[in-house]
Amino acid sequence: MSRSAHPAGPRHADVLPEGHYSAPPSDLNTLDSKVWAQTVRRDADGVVTVGGIDVKAIAEEFGTPAYVLDEADFRARARAWRTAFGHDADVFYAGKAFLSRAVVRWLDEEGLNLDVCSGGELATALSAGMPADRIAFHGNNKSTEEIRRAVTAGVGRIVLDSFQEIVRVAHIAQELGKRQRVQIRITVGVEAHTHEFIATAHEDQKFGIPLAGGQAAEAVRRALQLDGLELIGIHSHIGSQIFDMSGFEVAAHRVVGLLKDIRDEHGVELPEIDLGGGLGIAYTSDDDPREPHEIAKALTEIVSRECDAAKLRTPRISVEPGRAIVGPTAFTLYEVGTIKPLDGLRTYVSVDGGMSDNIRTALYDAEYSVALVSRASDAEPMLARVVGKHCESGDIVVKDAFLPADLAPGDLLAVPATGAYCRSMASNYNHVLRPPVVAVRDGEARVIVRRETEEDLLRLDVG
Ligand code: LLP
Repeated sequence: MSRSAHPAGPRHADVLPEGHYSAPPSDLNTLDSKVWAQTVRRDADGVVTVGGIDVKAIAEEFGTPAYVLDEADFRARARAWRTAFGHDADVFYAGKAFLSRAVVRWLDEEGLNLDVCSGGELATALSAGMPADRIAFHGNNKSTEEIRRAVTAGVGRIVLDSFQEIVRVAHIAQELGKRQRVQIRITVGVEAHTHEFIATAHEDQKFGIPLAGGQAAEAVRRALQLDGLELIGIHSHIGSQIFDMSGFEVAAHRVVGLLKDIRDEHGVELPEIDLGGGLGIAYTSDDDPREPHEIAKALTEIVSRECDAAKLRTPRISVEPGRAIVGPTAFTLYEVGTIKPLDGLRTYVSVDGGMSDNIRTALYDAEYSVALVSRASDAEPMLARVVGKHCESGDIVVKDAFLPADLAPGDLLAVPATGAYCRSMASNYNHVLRPPVVAVRDGEARVIVRRETEEDLLRLDVG
């Protein structure tokens, strides 16, 4: 790598420090469509636009940092999932990835269902008018109050996560004079190739009831005996950010195996199976996610093959993609503040947000890409680390990135693929205010989640 001539640029070591990067890209102005929302372009004047609006105008009107969400892209991805699975399957968008009332309305309009996992998500869904029977309620420790609200609202299914919950939900449903449709979440013993904290189908973890040792079969036995429950199926979620379909293949094989055992023991063919979410997206140009139609084809083929072999009627399939729908549709827009070149190492570029708006880098060592979006630049690439403004050295947004060496305070940077698990996992660490979510579509921008204010912070502080 050559040395930067710009005063703000560092003199880099001839050997690059250890990191996740490959060679610097030949052109830093090119935006890889794989990681950016569909309507993102760089205009002739070098400024990046989304939904027909330039990012400088967005920053001026709404401030930075801000999550900027491409509504057309969101709807297109939601529709692609819906179409790919057709009428014989259901797509439940996983609200934990990002939920707001506008999103609920878009999902409703595009014909998707919704997976919620807390009273707060349920309240958001209901308040935006999502029909309760299209909501699935998840969670490993749902409170009695949450269960009561879900049953009262008439959610389409509650996904049971423990032996205690089987009894709890049955009692509450009976008390309310209802018969609740439920699935049982099992762990099939698959190790998804992903970060330990986001893999969920191996047995040594808090979710689900293990298939191993006959525990799942025992859970089914108990659920079938309880009048308050209508057992409609088995659920499995194997993890997150998965590219390899083989984990789903093993999971489907084992879930269908259980359905067969249930048929043999109870004479009942459960009508549904849910294979969860977890499909990966491109955070950097190195990631190659599959298209929804390929995923749908693979999953439906696996399930019908397994069912044919077991001489079972093929159950209705459902899936719960969160990240794969919303992840690629948004980027985080930041303003560059302090730039600190560290001789022989890299340049630290501080932005006006950080781990409070994107904890994924610190938590999972997640990789992101980043681009200068308020102008084009022909300056040579400098090895940078994009960091936030928090009092913590782990406050890293993008660990290793090449940015133009003429980067200056006031420039705008955008980190793509931050639609999932960024706003939804945002915090107030250091009393930094959570950014707004600005939705853009056809030349119009509107706030769908407003920026937090100091007043909001102080309102909670009642002491
Ligand atoms: N269904 C169930 C039962 C889940 O637990 C999850 C995610 C999903 C669906 C949606 O998974 P997705 O398609 O979005 O990968 N905070 C982590 C991800 C945790 C996911 C938890 N459950 C991250 O930032 O990567």
